[in-house]
Amino acid sequence: MSKVDFFAQVLYEVIERRVSLDVAFKRACKKRCARTLDERERLYQECRRLVSNYVKLKCLSTKKHSSYRDLARAWVSGRVYEPVEPHCRLSVSKWLYEKIANLLGPGGAEAMLKAFEERTWWLRLNTLKAPEERVLKELEAEGVELEVHPEIPYMVRVLSSPRPIRLLKPVREFKALPQDLASAVSVEFIDVRPGDVVVDMCAAPGLKTSLIVMLEESARVLAFDISNKRLRIMRHLLKKLGVPESRVQIALADSRFINLVRPVDKVLLDAPCSNSGSIDKDPSIKATLTQGKVEFYSKRQLELLLKSLELSDCVVYTTCSILPDEGEDVIEKIVKKTSVKPVVPLRFRGFCSPGYSGYEFSSNVCRLYPHVHKSEGFFISRLERL
Ligand SMILES: C[S@@+](CC[C@H](N)C(=O)[O-])C[C@H]1O[C@@H](n2cnc3c(N)ncnc32)[C@H](O)[C@@H]1O
Repeated sequence: MSKVDFFAQVLYEVIERRVSLDVAFKRACKKRCARTLDERERLYQECRRLVSNYVKLKCLSTKKHSSYRDLARAWVSGRVYEPVEPHCRLSVSKWLYEKIANLLGPGGAEAMLKAFEERTWWLRLNTLKAPEERVLKELEAEGVELEVHPEIPYMVRVLSSPRPIRLLKPVREFKALPQDLASAVSVEFIDVRPGDVVVDMCAAPGLKTSLIVMLEESARVLAFDISNKRLRIMRHLLKKLGVPESRVQIALADSRFINLVRPVDKVLLDAPCSNSGSIDKDPSIKATLTQGKVEFYSKRQLELLLKSLELSDCVVYTTCSILPDEGEDVIEKIVKKTSVKPVVPLRFRGFCSPGYSGYEFSSNVCRLYPHVHKSEGFFISRLERL
């Protein structure tokens, strides 16, 4: 297959089939697409840049209805100029650009969208398998350059790596695992105490569940998820990570309708969302995110959060989203309907950015941004009953 055809297929999969970059790449690569691992990695990175520039390519096209082949050909020819319109230049839809620019100003929007172009890798040192210092030494012995997070010592940022992260020995042995900083901060917001029972409402594939268990050895987790397929992956992952079976009870459920015999100490609601904060992981999100999708998730998040508050007096609500529709707006409805207040734990007050302005509780919720925290774009709120 020629390069143009290959790229056209990747674009087709992303836009028409609505799959992630990784799935699109795998499908296009079904037959052999590269001779060596290095070649495959280079091709993947080029596909990543192509998908990230999809909206820009469409803006630059002189045809009204350009085909995926036309766009792929323009990309391969290298004739990609800087368009004037900011949303075209930053390669996102107009509504999304305008929304972000209204929240953060044009400078802030540009800084955040540009930061998404680079993938930042964080690793969690999995102390269920080996002590932190040993894993650090093993990573360094492989030639990985790292920076330990000053607040959260089991989180390390990869500055450079001689090979793809998934191929590093400690990662293959599950002593270290790719997990974003924001995901770790979300779990830290729970402040799990000895003997706590925690409900994880949307748990699969289990990154946060396994971190809860790692942080407090006597805590137990009741983990729910609506997807059987993702729960299968979760069971496998927990085993590989060294999570004792007795510590996590897993159940397939639509968490909007679960009932428990008694309240639990804490609930984590890592709700399904538009994933607009994960553009660095999957640039296809920039090309396919719609207002309808955001509205759908926003309603679902409210339903799940209302149920969470029936189960515990302390709920940590998180979404991997840069949009207030899935953060502040949901909390505003909850604060009006129930007797809870959002709080930022003391140790994160200097670290978190506040929520978007215009809400009474903006300084009591936490936003993380790629251009500020080198993390995914995340919204985190700890809700306590008054
Ligand atoms: C952001 S992911 C969770 C990631 C997980 N917390 C982790 O750290 O690995 C959202 C999850 O919500 C699940 N989900 C979506 N709607 C749900 C519902 N109504 N009830 C339970 N789980 C749901 C999805 O299947 C998906 O696994």
